[in-house]
Amino acid sequence: MTQPRAADGGAMTFRTIIEPFRIHSVEPLRITTVGERGRAIRDAGFNLFNLRSEDVLIDLLTDSGTGAMSRDQWAGVQRGDESYAGSPSWFRFLESVQDLFPFRHVIPTHQGRAAEKILFTAIGGAGKIIPNNTHFDTTRANVEFTGAEAVDLVIAEGLDPASTHPFKGNMDVGRLDQLLEARGADVPVVFVTITNNSGGGQPVSLANLTAVSEICHRHRIPLFLDACRFAENAWFIREREPGQHDRDVRDIVRDMAALADGMTMSAKKDGLANIGGWLALDDDALAESCRNLLILTEGFPTYGGLAGRDLEAIAQGLREVVDHDYLRYRIRSTAYLGDALITAGVPVVRPIGGHAVYLDARALLPHIPPLEYPGQSLAVALYETGGIRSCEIGTVMFGLRPDGTEHAAPLDLVRLAIPRRTYTQSHVDYVIEVCTDVAGRASSLRGYRIVEQPRALRHFTARFAPAET
Ligand code: F0G
Repeated sequence: MTQPRAADGGAMTFRTIIEPFRIHSVEPLRITTVGERGRAIRDAGFNLFNLRSEDVLIDLLTDSGTGAMSRDQWAGVQRGDESYAGSPSWFRFLESVQDLFPFRHVIPTHQGRAAEKILFTAIGGAGKIIPNNTHFDTTRANVEFTGAEAVDLVIAEGLDPASTHPFKGNMDVGRLDQLLEARGADVPVVFVTITNNSGGGQPVSLANLTAVSEICHRHRIPLFLDACRFAENAWFIREREPGQHDRDVRDIVRDMAALADGMTMSAKKDGLANIGGWLALDDDALAESCRNLLILTEGFPTYGGLAGRDLEAIAQGLREVVDHDYLRYRIRSTAYLGDALITAGVPVVRPIGGHAVYLDARALLPHIPPLEYPGQSLAVALYETGGIRSCEIGTVMFGLRPDGTEHAAPLDLVRLAIPRRTYTQSHVDYVIEVCTDVAGRASSLRGYRIVEQPRALRHFTARFAPAET
């Protein structure tokens, strides 16, 4: 993969950006046939979450917990101290988190949604409103489970797949200010998701975060970051925001943290770990009620939902994820996939996000109406054709409202999420070939209908059948 010579400021002499690691232990992939995959996906009710992962060749379902850990993280696993209380692994974890996010209280959880559940249990409830640039599915579900309303206030460009705005994750500060003016008393917290996963993995600028922080604090409402992909967001700020180019990413991360009053985190993303998360905040009273909830469901405050060895893996992961060589490779290798698909004429969300490439299924399959799930159709076709598992982010994921009615989501996307440090460039070249092949036969793809679904988070377990039309 290449980029213009010396675009990094001159540190690299050659154009090709290589994976800044070599492979230390290998996992075999099982090669399957189109026939085998056709049977597997039928048995799975055409839901990719229901597949056995051994039947998947290239697994781009998620970048969450699926990355490769480093030698030094595995060494940390060996060093993990499993003392119930006050383990040295806890203190290494705490130091690593607070080095980047110096909040007074850090509450370890088994993953991001556990942090969300605890926070929204403490501050949510009927009549409350939680604004965000765009809530991710678990965040929205955790807000709504308490009876509160989840409101998305991303800028208009964030909903336009063709817009090349450099910070499409930005919050619409005008609408936020209006909401807080009208309903501030009902808003216990404002969230900003960095990067904005549901909106295409798009970053939020420091300038926007600063404006959001100013508005929140003028209304005396705390600002929290959903910081799952904070390092990728900080790298985009370094690359795209005026005045940030020569800065250390760690300092950009600290600036983002300084604008906020707390955070939720899934260490399965930019923690470079396979499990883990935390809730961090400054407010002493809120921290105490959150710790009380933590003890009910997760564990004692110095391990939360994690083993000592997990705390060690995260502590080391946080040191590695802010390495500039890693981030340059990470962002460039995702763009390599996206740029190749653009060249092949496949519609994708632009600019290319940090952790994933989002195919615009509604644009590719205009003959499939949103309520016949063009994203699901495309995701199934990528699996049958090439064994690639992707994830629908559209009407299947977001179309069912809490009142039971169904509506088209703003976008019908298919996410190709790239696990960190896991696949090589030839795997990605194969993905490009498969996507190009499926896009070339787009008009032959058919829609789906849902034959079975739960009341919430239906995309995980719903079963589908080909639409009758
Ligand atoms: N917030 C965002 C922005 C996320 O992307 C996720 C998870 C979470 C919160 C919840 O974290 O999984 O550790 O409980 N996203 C994964 C994904 C599942 O595939 O994008 P978690």
